[in-house]
Amino acid sequence: MTAAPVPLEAPFHLPESADAGPIEADGHGGYSDVSDRYPAFASFAATLGDTSLMPAPAQGGGAAILAKCEWENPAGSIKDRVAYALLAQAVRDHGDRPLSELRILEYSGGNLARSLSQLCRALGISSRLVLSSASPKSLLDDLAANGSLVDLVDRELGFLEVVRTAHAIAAKEPDWTLLYQHRNPANLWCHQRTTGAEIVRQLAGRTPTAWVASIGTGGTLVGVYRALRRSHPTVRLIGVTPQELPYGSARPPNGLPKYAGSGGFGNGIRQPFVTLHDAQVEHHAVSYPRCLEAMAEMYRRTGVRIGSSAAANWLIARRIAAELPRPAVVVTVFPDAGTPEEWERIS
Ligand SMILES: Cc1ncc(COP(=O)(O)O)c(C=O)c1O
Repeated sequence: MTAAPVPLEAPFHLPESADAGPIEADGHGGYSDVSDRYPAFASFAATLGDTSLMPAPAQGGGAAILAKCEWENPAGSIKDRVAYALLAQAVRDHGDRPLSELRILEYSGGNLARSLSQLCRALGISSRLVLSSASPKSLLDDLAANGSLVDLVDRELGFLEVVRTAHAIAAKEPDWTLLYQHRNPANLWCHQRTTGAEIVRQLAGRTPTAWVASIGTGGTLVGVYRALRRSHPTVRLIGVTPQELPYGSARPPNGLPKYAGSGGFGNGIRQPFVTLHDAQVEHHAVSYPRCLEAMAEMYRRTGVRIGSSAAANWLIARRIAAELPRPAVVVTVFPDAGTPEEWERIS
């Protein structure tokens, strides 16, 4: 019998004192030993991170908004940072055995699957990805081209069943290594060591009044927050979740379309990383139709294409910024530039 993965809802602890890892400075998020051994990791790392912090439109008279442009990463999203860190950690744990003996299993809302599949292919590692049947064709085509195995879960069952299906595979077929992004510290740490550390450097001494990020695993929200508050202890923590299934909702999971990377859980389950800061997080919810409108608005006003979770973040950052005086700065993140399918819907 194999031990089943720890359930999502089990209590989670990750003290800030455990976060003292090598940061940005090594250019590989603390995994330069792995990059040194495998050139495919090194070439991915060479174009990973160090993304721009762009000024985003905000209401006149209120605070300025700065947003991290994560589509600049090698496979086009913030999840490239996470794929690199989770996989580098798994490779490190795998030791001296050949990479062909490592078989990676993970569930995803989309972007992590794309990055993992690309990186695994380059490294000669087998990958198996569990996704919702609502996943866009452009993503499924990419995964097939990379030779990844894909398990699709009925969209009506929601993201919770996607996670549970991956757990069931891991328990039944132990030669697959489950990365488990919602409870894997490497997810949170990669954002603290790279995304957050970069923002601190790019702020160049300016004090952020608030940090706004959408919650998938909450790795971005909490990792960056922990980096920011080391030098800016008063920064407010603003979490964004879909109106169709907000943070910690007691409603059952549903198949309603939601902005990207936000799956949500339902049944009262909360994202483990976010529970670490339940006392600090201010929660806001945004509907999917409102995000599509904001994607179109951003494109009309600036010519920049942002994805639906970026649009959710922008909308909430605008709301927070409008209530603050001019010299204040609100920082947020634009996780990707949207899928072709979403842009077709808008135009
Ligand atoms: C487009 C997009 N936005 C936001 C997120 C949320 O990121 P996190 O898991 O760090 O909360 C994801 C995660 O998959 C994503 O793909």
